[in-house]
Amino acid sequence: MEIRKVAVVGAGLMGTGITQVIAEAGLSVTWVDISEEQLNKGLEKIKFFLEKKVKKGEVNSSHIQSTLQNIHITSELHDAQNVDLVIEAVPENLDLKKKVFKQLDEIINENAILASNTSALSISAIGSVTKRPHKVVGTHFFYPVPVMGLLEVIPGLATSEEITKTALEFGEKIGKRAVLCNDYPGFIVNRLLIPMVNEAAYLVMEGVKPEDVDAAMQIGANHKMGPLTLADFVGIETLTATMEGLYEGFRDSKYRPCPLLVKMVEAGKLGVKTGAGFYDYDQNGKKVIKSELIVKL
Ligand SMILES: NC(=O)c1ccc[n+]([C@@H]2O[C@H](COP(=O)([O-])OP(=O)(O)OC[C@H]3O[C@@H](n4cnc5c(N)ncnc54)[C@H](O)[C@@H]3O)[C@@H](O)[C@H]2O)c1
Repeated sequence: MEIRKVAVVGAGLMGTGITQVIAEAGLSVTWVDISEEQLNKGLEKIKFFLEKKVKKGEVNSSHIQSTLQNIHITSELHDAQNVDLVIEAVPENLDLKKKVFKQLDEIINENAILASNTSALSISAIGSVTKRPHKVVGTHFFYPVPVMGLLEVIPGLATSEEITKTALEFGEKIGKRAVLCNDYPGFIVNRLLIPMVNEAAYLVMEGVKPEDVDAAMQIGANHKMGPLTLADFVGIETLTATMEGLYEGFRDSKYRPCPLLVKMVEAGKLGVKTGAGFYDYDQNGKKVIKSELIVKL
């Protein structure tokens, strides 16, 4: 099945990037959000990124016009009725996603595919509220979407092979390396990355300095960014919630969230956004002072 027309539902951080890459790939995007303000802000962001690309000489100026021409903003979900694929990027809340999928299922044509950009919710659960669970699939993009080259494709228990294959091909068509995952918490990237960051937090809890943990992984394992710098960047509460999701999903003690992370959430030390996490930050999000947060056993 060839995807020509796409709808993206949600104009937040992820919906904006997803809309940009699809429109840049030359496909028509109907972009829906309940908030017109979000859509207009999103469009401004896309323009800003495209202009930056022109300045850097990556594309010529006509690319801006041709990309923007492919984007049609609307606050009416009904305007998505004739598309081949809908990608949902509304907030991470199962009830909300189920509600949106139920509405979409009634509105869009019966051959269309419904995809969710969920980070951790069950695709099988989201698909179960529709009359087309075999056409429901996960398409997990990474932030910032125009920069990050990966797409995780997640079939639910009921998803057909044909739809999974179409989603993988679609990912490649819009310039991503698409990988096939299972519908279990964490998919591939978070299943590997989040427990590593959790172990890094255990090391700090046991008395190792955050800067030594980060240096060890950067120099010793060739990671671009240390795990604790990453934790501060992602947000300690997001990280802890993801770890809780793995723990609940697998009911396996190896995924227990580090008590230090839980304490940091309780203390409001959420990382860059609150000015303190494993490190301290100034108002521009720059690291300032080395953290004193070394908890003795
Ligand atoms: N932020 C990330 O780094 C990241 C990375 C990968 C996946 N995700 C996932 O992507 C999804 C979206 O995350 P986000 O960070 O872009 O969220 P966000 O809060 O930035 O944006 C959500 C948007 O959805 C809109 N919205 C809410 N209810 C709606 C409805 N009923 N119909 C239409 N629009 C509606 C909101 O107005 C808002 O613009 C979540 O499932 C999240 O887990 C996020």
